[in-house]
Amino acid sequence: MNTLLLENNEKDIKTAGKILANGGLVAIPTETVYGLAANALDGNAVKKIFKAKGRPADNPLIVHIADFDDIKRYKLARDLTEKAVKLAQRFWSGPLTIILKKGASVPDEVSAGLDTVAIRFPSHKTAQAVIKASGCPLAAPSANLSGSPSPTTALHVMSDLNGKIDAVLDGGECSVGLESTVITLTTDKPRLLRPGAVTVEQIESVIGELSVDDAVLNQLEKGAKASSPGMKYKHYSPKARVILVSSGDEKYINFVNERKARDVAALCYKGDEKGIDTCCFILGEKDNYIEQAHELFKLLREIDKNPSIKTVYARCPKPDGVGMAVYNRLIRAAGFEVINLEEI
Ligand code: TXA
Ligand code: MG
Repeated sequence: MNTLLLENNEKDIKTAGKILANGGLVAIPTETVYGLAANALDGNAVKKIFKAKGRPADNPLIVHIADFDDIKRYKLARDLTEKAVKLAQRFWSGPLTIILKKGASVPDEVSAGLDTVAIRFPSHKTAQAVIKASGCPLAAPSANLSGSPSPTTALHVMSDLNGKIDAVLDGGECSVGLESTVITLTTDKPRLLRPGAVTVEQIESVIGELSVDDAVLNQLEKGAKASSPGMKYKHYSPKARVILVSSGDEKYINFVNERKARDVAALCYKGDEKGIDTCCFILGEKDNYIEQAHELFKLLREIDKNPSIKTVYARCPKPDGVGMAVYNRLIRAAGFEVINLEEI
């Protein structure tokens, strides 16, 4: 299949809408990461997403809308609770996904057979325009091959999916760089399943207590049931072995220098590179989690381009605020391998 590279203009947005309305796959920009979209109401179109990505069939997809009323219009959810409405008013459009009881029109392919559905209203204007042009809600996981870092540019999408999908719409670099915050309102108490740019504190300021699922910060016990199927899978894994190093600045720098070799790299904070004698990839300022979120996936792909790098010692962010999202992705990239040198 020849994958069309579409531009961010009215004509190409219409083309994208047509391909989607006809059951095709188009990768689209959103403010978080690129999504691989298909008509969410068409089970056969949705099946193609799983095939193109090599995604396990038991991992459900997020349904993207371009208007809050789309939830009712398309019968996406059974009941819109008061908390859902409050969260939507405060955080939509934006990088928050809300899981609700599934409505009648959502095919099993989208929900992977669950009785719930994840819904998101992206703030990216092009994403909204494509949803409107297609005339349907769009199911869209991140537009990467399963197991590789989520794509934050059209080029990343092409390098994973060229020849496997109908088109990619190039909307430039994604502003957030990490996937949306996912919470469920279908459990007794609201629960965080995946941290993102919308933080626990922000959500709690609207709906009160939000519990954090164990699997957000810790490895799932063998045989334990995941609240979100995506938690089961090893994610964002570069080819090199990534090891998180929990430490203050000086000890981290010394630790890396003691292990310096041609196949060793550091994934470090701005300034660390001055003291480190080996190849450095700079995540951003130590306390700027938003910058780190923006850089992380791009850097993991950069690292993959250097096959000579076999080991990466990465700084371990504090898991608070947006840092929780950076930590959550990094610890998965590291396969939960952490070296604790000192409290951070
Ligand atoms: O920012 C994002 O959310 C991006 C952009 C494209 O919108 N999308 C994205 O989709 O990250 P994906 O499929 O890569 O991640 C969705 C996560 C998966 O871990 C999946 O298991 C979980 O959300 N999920 C989806 N529906 C669910 C449901 N009904 N119950 C529990 N978890 C669900
Ligand atoms: Mg993904």
